[in-house]
Amino acid sequence: NRTRRQRLFNKFDIQHPCLIVEIYCLLKSVTLVSFSNAFGQGSLPLIPKPQAMELHEGTFSLTANTQFVIQGNVHKEALDLFKVFVKSNFGIEFNSLKKSQRKFSAVHIKLDKSTAKSKESYELNIEKHKITIVAFGEAGLFYALQTIIEMMPLNASNSVDLPCLKITDSPKYTWRGMHLDVSRHFFSVEFIKKYLDCLALYKMNTFHWHLTDDQGWRIEIKKYPKLTEIGSVRKKSMVGHYKDHTFDSIPYGGFYTQEEIKEVVAYAKQRFITVIPEIEMPGHAMAALAAYPELACTAGPFEVATEWGVFDDVYCPTESTFTFLENVMDEVLSLFPSEYIHIGGDECPKTRWKTCEKCQHLIKQEDLKDEFELQSYFIRRIEKYINVKGRKIIGWDEILEGGLAPNAAVMSWRGIDGGIAAAKQKHFVVMSPGSHCYFDHYQADPKTEPVAIGGYTTLEKVYSYTPTPVELTKEEAAYVLGAQGNVWSEYMTTSDYVEYMAVPRMAALAEVLWGTADPKQFKDFQDRLLVHFALLDKMKVNYCKNITSGVQAK
Ligand code: ACM
Ligand code: ZN
Repeated sequence: NRTRRQRLFNKFDIQHPCLIVEIYCLLKSVTLVSFSNAFGQGSLPLIPKPQAMELHEGTFSLTANTQFVIQGNVHKEALDLFKVFVKSNFGIEFNSLKKSQRKFSAVHIKLDKSTAKSKESYELNIEKHKITIVAFGEAGLFYALQTIIEMMPLNASNSVDLPCLKITDSPKYTWRGMHLDVSRHFFSVEFIKKYLDCLALYKMNTFHWHLTDDQGWRIEIKKYPKLTEIGSVRKKSMVGHYKDHTFDSIPYGGFYTQEEIKEVVAYAKQRFITVIPEIEMPGHAMAALAAYPELACTAGPFEVATEWGVFDDVYCPTESTFTFLENVMDEVLSLFPSEYIHIGGDECPKTRWKTCEKCQHLIKQEDLKDEFELQSYFIRRIEKYINVKGRKIIGWDEILEGGLAPNAAVMSWRGIDGGIAAAKQKHFVVMSPGSHCYFDHYQADPKTEPVAIGGYTTLEKVYSYTPTPVELTKEEAAYVLGAQGNVWSEYMTTSDYVEYMAVPRMAALAEVLWGTADPKQFKDFQDRLLVHFALLDKMKVNYCKNITSGVQAK
C-alpha cells in the first residue's frame, strides 16, 4: 500500500518501458477510408462496444425529412441534444411535416418502463426506412442516441447514412465514473462541460468532482466566505516534478460560485451523469485551515499549500469543527442531489492528534483505542449527519481503518484490498486502484511524455482491468458498484493536458465498465478507436494519439 506522498517520491516506477512506434497516422487514414465507404464490413466505431449487435445489409438515410415518432412519456431533452449535434455537424435541421406528408424515413421511439430491465438499457433497430428505439428508461434513450452519434460518418452533409443493424444493449456496472481534481489546478466551467461531454459519449454516468484539497478550496460556501477569499488562492506553485522542488512566484486561484455549480449539475443531469462532490476531511485540509485556523489542533497561522503531498495539519475533531463541516455540508447537499457525498478520508496523518490535548481528551471520553479509531469517530459523526439528511457517504479506503462507518461506501484506491474488505463487510464499493485507474500516471515512455506524477498505466493495461476482484463470492461481488478513473491534477496545468491524460484511457475504462471489454480483443478496440478519433477531433478533444505503446498487461 503506497500513499500518494510515496508515489510522489517514486519517480517513474515503470514496469516495462518500451519504445513508441507512431503508426497512428498511417493506420488512421487507412481505417477511415475502409469504414466510411463500407459500413458493415468491419466493426463500427462504437465505444463502449454494445452487448449484442447484428449488422444487416443496407443503410438508413437520416435527412431533414426524417420524422420522430414518440410513444410514451419521453422527456424531449435527450432528443433535443441529438438534434443539436446533427444540426451542428451535418447542417441537418429536421422539418416538421404533416401526417399526410410523412412518406419519408422515421425514427420511432418507445419508452418502456414496464419491465425490470435497467433504465440504462435500450434496443436499437436500424432498417432501410425506419429506426426503432425501445428504451427501458430515459437514460436508455440517451444512450441509444449516443450510439447513433458514434456511428455517423463525419464527412457527410445534409444526409447521414447509418448502417442497418440491430443492437441490444445494457451496462454491467452501475457506477461508471470519472474523477477530476480541480484543487491542484483549476478548470473552467466550460471545460468541465467538455469533460462531461466525453463521459456522456462513453456512456459513463458518474462525475466525481474533487473540490477541496490542501492547495485550494474551489467551491463557494456562503456561510464561510473566507474558504474562497483565502482558501482558493495559493502564493505559488511547483514547477516541474516534485523531486526538483522548484517553484514559480505566481499566485494561483479559482473557484466555482454556487450558480456555476448548479449549472454544471444541470448540464450533467441532461446527460444522465450524477455529480458526486468531494469535500475532503479530516486530512487534505490546509486550504480550509488557512481560512479558519481555529479548526486545527494548533494555533496556526496556516497557508494554502504550495507543494504537492500530504500535510500534518488536519481538522481537529472538536464540536466547532463538526458544526463548521455540517454547515458546509448543508450548502453542499442543497447544490448536489446525488445519493452519495464523498467525504475524502484519505491520507490523514495522526501526528497532530497524537499531541493535541483536545484530541486525546476525546479519545478517552469516547473510549477509543487510538488515533485510527478517532478518524473512524470523525467519519461516523459526519456520516450520521449526512444519513439524517437522506444521503450516504463514500470515502477513500482509509475509512476502513479504525472501523467502517455503518452505511459508508468505500472507494478502493490503494490497490484492491480495501474494496475486498469492504464488500466482505457488506458495504458498497467503487474500485479505483492505482494500478489501472489512475490516469495521472504515464501512459507511455516518460522520455516521450510531458511530466507526470509517475507510474505507468497504458491504454492496454486499463483495457485489461477486471473491476470485480476474483476473491469475492457472488454475493459479495454484488457490492461492487463499478469503478472510476482518477485524474489528479498536480501536473496537469491546462485542460489540454487533462484531455491528453484522460482520453482515450477513459474510453477503455468505459468499455470495461459496460462489460464488453475483452483483453484478448484489444486490437479490435484499437481499430474502433482509430476510427472514433475523428469524432474526438470534431469535439476538439486533445486526446493521446499513442495507443500502441501497450505492454502485455499483468
Ligand atoms: C488518493 O489518491 N489520495 C485517494
Ligand atoms: Zn486536535
